[in-house]
Amino acid sequence: MAIESSCDETSAAVSNKGKILANVIAGQKVHEAYGGVVPELASRAHQQNIIPVVDQALKEANVAKNDLQAVAFTNGPGLMGSLLVGTSFAKSFALALGIPIIEVNHMQAHILALFASREDEGVEYPEFPFLCLTVSGGHTQIVKVHDHLEMEVLGQTLDDAAGEAFDKIAKILGLPYPGGPLIDKMAVKGDPARFKFPVTRLSGLNFSFSGLKTAVLYFIQKQLSIDPEFIDKNLADLCASVQHTIVESLVIKLIEAAESEGIEHIGIAGGVSANSGLRSRLQAEAKGRGWKLFIPPFEFCTDNAAMIAVTGYYKYLNKQFSTQDSAPFARFSGMK
Ligand code: KG4
Ligand code: ZN
Repeated sequence: MAIESSCDETSAAVSNKGKILANVIAGQKVHEAYGGVVPELASRAHQQNIIPVVDQALKEANVAKNDLQAVAFTNGPGLMGSLLVGTSFAKSFALALGIPIIEVNHMQAHILALFASREDEGVEYPEFPFLCLTVSGGHTQIVKVHDHLEMEVLGQTLDDAAGEAFDKIAKILGLPYPGGPLIDKMAVKGDPARFKFPVTRLSGLNFSFSGLKTAVLYFIQKQLSIDPEFIDKNLADLCASVQHTIVESLVIKLIEAAESEGIEHIGIAGGVSANSGLRSRLQAEAKGRGWKLFIPPFEFCTDNAAMIAVTGYYKYLNKQFSTQDSAPFARFSGMK
């Protein structure tokens, strides 16, 4: 059994030797009206959702509680109140069943979503070492993956994450939270070259997205003072141009990393890996550069417990169990 509760998705998955039997995800609509996740409301929603979600996962997997061998759970990074619900549930559930618990790092799990599958055979996985661009609402990293549980962060954002940039810019454009998928949808109908926004280029493999957010904010304020209907009239082109800029910022650094490391197996993971602009741009780059590109199925891109189950499985093989004094952590401090 695997539990994920780091942000605003309550999820439970059941796996058998790493193969996913069930992956139930309950989203939280309550945040839409606020333009972002409200931590207090997220914790309460996890508390309401956790048992029904676990029950549903067991039912879908057709597995009895007593047949479970271990409980894996996200212990960070994430929102402390949200993590506490999943952690406390996992500890008491395992204690009641007399089975071990396994702590899982949420960022490591996003990458191991590349190894999540509902099939036994016919699935291709990246070869080690490979590079993974992990792009979510809270993090943006380029990671060199040496092995399932041995990962090295080569670069990361120094301010906003890519998903955060999507969501904050969507808010400026008057779109509800989470804005990333909405920008993606609108962008399909727009011209990505219509508006030019800055791509911040730092030295090395780090990213920065706060400059883009500010540039869009000032540009929109100026245009609205000239024409109050500017956003409505140009929404598709604005979304396409913003998406193009974010994708460009990500892909430039990924190419740099692939060239300097001499690695051709490339993966993407995290919520923003669901973005159609990023997927098609990377597919084109892969074709031109001879990369082998790996993208998780949509259900394993945004927060889900299947990725926790896969990570838990590799830790189970290594007997990396935790004790009942396990406590969650909020901030990323390495792939442990
Ligand atoms: O990985 P995730 O579910 O949660 C975190 O760990 O943060 O990522 C959520 C982020 C949000 O910022 C959301 O707007 C973004 O992923 N996202 C997208 C798309 N789908 C989800 N951003 C752009 N295009 C999408 N299609
Ligand atoms: Zn995530």
